[in-house]
Amino acid sequence: MARHLITSAIPYINGIKHLGNLVGSQLPADLYARYLRGRGNEVLFLCATDEHGTPAELAAAKAGKPVAEYCAEMHEVQAGIAEGFRLSFDHFGRSSSARNHALTQHFAGVLAEKGLIREVSETQMYSPTDGRYLPDRYIEGTCPNCGFDSARGDQCDNCTKQLDPVDLINPHSTISGATDLEMRETKHLYLCQSVMKAEIEAWIDSKTDWPVLTTSIAKKWLNDGDGLQDRGITRDLDWGIPVKKGDADWPGMEGKVFYVWFDAPIEYIACAQEWVDAGKGEDWARWWRTDKGAQDVTYTQFMGKDNVPFHTLTFPATILGSGEPWKLVDYIKSFNYLNYEGGQFSTSRGRGVFMDQALEVLPSDYWRWWLLSHAPESSDAEFTWENFQASVNKDLADVLGNFVSRVTKFCRSKFGEVVPEGGAHGAAEEALIAELSDRVRRYETLMDAMEVRKSAQELRAIWAAGNEYLQSAAPWAVFKEDPAQAAAIVRLSLNLIRLYAVLSAPFIPDTAAVLKEALKLDGLDWPGDLPEALSALSAGAEFSVPENLFRKITDEEREDWQKRFSGKRD
Ligand code: MF3
Ligand code: ZN
Repeated sequence: MARHLITSAIPYINGIKHLGNLVGSQLPADLYARYLRGRGNEVLFLCATDEHGTPAELAAAKAGKPVAEYCAEMHEVQAGIAEGFRLSFDHFGRSSSARNHALTQHFAGVLAEKGLIREVSETQMYSPTDGRYLPDRYIEGTCPNCGFDSARGDQCDNCTKQLDPVDLINPHSTISGATDLEMRETKHLYLCQSVMKAEIEAWIDSKTDWPVLTTSIAKKWLNDGDGLQDRGITRDLDWGIPVKKGDADWPGMEGKVFYVWFDAPIEYIACAQEWVDAGKGEDWARWWRTDKGAQDVTYTQFMGKDNVPFHTLTFPATILGSGEPWKLVDYIKSFNYLNYEGGQFSTSRGRGVFMDQALEVLPSDYWRWWLLSHAPESSDAEFTWENFQASVNKDLADVLGNFVSRVTKFCRSKFGEVVPEGGAHGAAEEALIAELSDRVRRYETLMDAMEVRKSAQELRAIWAAGNEYLQSAAPWAVFKEDPAQAAAIVRLSLNLIRLYAVLSAPFIPDTAAVLKEALKLDGLDWPGDLPEALSALSAGAEFSVPENLFRKITDEEREDWQKRFSGKRD
């Protein structure tokens, strides 16, 4: 039994994520975790909320709540939705946990000891009225490029020009509206990534099996312009992890916190500690410390492409720089973007379908199936309601749902709710079993390689093969002449349902559970030898006809939803 550590990029706390976010990290990570568990591996699957940074502070202010309270509430909301999508995290942690505070401060202390952190003096906007330094997003003014009057300190939303707060005309604080802003000298900490360039590059070069999307982004950032730059890892915010060297104060850094991108990936480790604290596990070190057993762990990370630089360069710099025996990632699976109906999903404009809304409209398996079978792997992908309707109606309702319904209902009407006896396999059955043997082995190879779309295609082909077999074997016609032969066809078909329950579980776990229940199975053992797996249900075994597995999406519904999700979310 192999051990697999799996993490999904941890979603920001500010608000509910849209389906593009879901398919870019959490959902494929869940698919892989379920698959590996299904094949008998020991899996630790971790995710958390990413709770620091300006967006969290701003969202809390907008909600009129203290930021700690806002984060605690939103964490519960996100945890509930994750459960709704059946994301099977072993633990869903929080980057604001005491564990992450301690671990982040620990890393900073160790990196400082190794001479990998330097202090840099900078000038920054200070607002005497607010009594604080203002980070980029807390400053607005007129864009020097296009004249737009609410350009932010970091960027103009109108003309997209990247800005520095000093570029703005008539800058003001977005907290108080104060205009008496002044530039002040302040000190920040920088992580000396540049001196680690060779080490990081050699490590990335050794990953010859990584997806091109991952390595190409990493290489670009390593070698573009001036190469790997040192990065500021502190901010002037109230909310965040206070800057310390381990337990000790950091003179000159009073009132500052670590930058969100410094502490967020460290939460991957802290989350394993939270998992133990929550009483769900015994030993986090055996997953994370290579001196305590983690050398035998395979660690896979899932994320959208915008997160790749932080996971290929910044976080490894933290780990490698510490010189301590922490587990480094073995494989990074990254995704392109999912677009929505000819444009982008937009959180600020409420464009597209958000996770909570999706579950109000249809059960999670419908979404899981569409999203995974259209995962933006080799390029960006696009969600359209038309495509969604077509895939659901065809793959789920016509192919899988219809097969299960026809087989179980026909059996009930002719033989009762019990696997019938008699008859034997003929040429058609042998051919089907041979085809499925190949397909199942290919499905495994694709799932092992995290080829999400291709795995879905193979699974769909496995469903379709059963359908085609049933159609041509036609037990309803055979029954009149040769009931024993019809019984053999039905028996094999019921075994196919059992096979489908096992193989489909990573994609559509609720449906798999319904099938498992209908067939009164104790467990769902992964199929080894196919002839054996397809005779596991023997004559006399009882079952019950399940409720209709999937319903079809009507044209009216589709049009309705198209309208409902086109703009402003309330
Ligand atoms: N919150 C980030 C996002 O949603 C991802 C953080 S991943 C981690 O894009 F590595 F920092 F944890
Ligand atoms: Zn502008």
